Amino acid sequence: MKARCVLVLFLFHLTYAHGVEQTCPKGQFTKDAPSKEDGLATCKYFSCNSCCSPEITKQLALVPLQQVGAINYTQCGTLSDMCSYYMSYIQCFYQCSPNIYVWTNPSTKVVENLPICGSFCDNWFEACSADMTCTRNKNWMNGFTTKLNADGTKAQQCFPGESCRNYSVVYASGQDMCNNMWGHALQYTSDKDGGDHCVDPSDMQHNADFIKETKGDEYPVSVCGAGEYVDTGLIIGIVVGVIAGIALILALVALIRSRKFQKKEDTGGKAAPKEMEELNPTPEA
Ligand SMILES: *[C@@H]1O[C@H](CO)[C@@H](O)[C@H](O)[C@H]1NC(C)=O
Repeated sequence: MKARCVLVLFLFHLTYAHGVEQTCPKGQFTKDAPSKEDGLATCKYFSCNSCCSPEITKQLALVPLQQVGAINYTQCGTLSDMCSYYMSYIQCFYQCSPNIYVWTNPSTKVVENLPICGSFCDNWFEACSADMTCTRNKNWMNGFTTKLNADGTKAQQCFPGESCRNYSVVYASGQDMCNNMWGHALQYTSDKDGGDHCVDPSDMQHNADFIKETKGDEYPVSVCGAGEYVDTGLIIGIVVGVIAGIALILALVALIRSRKFQKKEDTGGKAAPKEMEELNPTPEA
């Protein structure tokens, strides 16, 4: 009898000990509470505990993005790949993260004032600066009208008379963009000079640490283990790495060519002995 009582108390403790429950923000594709999802097409770094269903990740996996729910990324032409990656990041984070409840208003279930890292906003703005949008007032929540697609779904559409302008005309900066694009959901938070009191949608571990540090153990967080997914960060890393690699090779080729050219001028085609030494250094004893 006593043992049973202890067991019940223990189970009660396991279930209800945390002061706060992980819940999901309100949305067409979000669940009430996060759970494991094996079929995510992208946003896979949330597979172990996801707020979104696989359905929306099929839309988020397209590069460039077309339409995600009613959000229409094709109104002013095709989105650039880099801008597309950042839009996906922020959408994955908003729709799928099991930890975003920390910034969700408990009564409206809407994300409010999430302290997003300034560096992420700045890079996002940079990536989209040449892309076009026709949003009326910087705010994508109410800056468009909607049309009915053939299949009965809705899609955002430019208000009559709103022209397409690039992001660097619509928004003054990464800060202006983050603070306005999704209403009051995001709040630009500087992380210059080593400050990291902010949320980076491309770094789940950092965000979990940040929540623990500022909110304490009352707020449970989930981070899926590495190796369970290939994340978009990795893809951006590879793309940037390859571009940097190509640039480096081109720079080296240019350098070698200019050196050869100089040598020819200096010595009539023959490398001077000193330069020969530099090119073929003898190993030191
Ligand atoms: C954005 O558009 C303005 C006005 O047309 C143009 O001057 C500017 O160069 C454009 N910026 C980018 C990054 O494309």
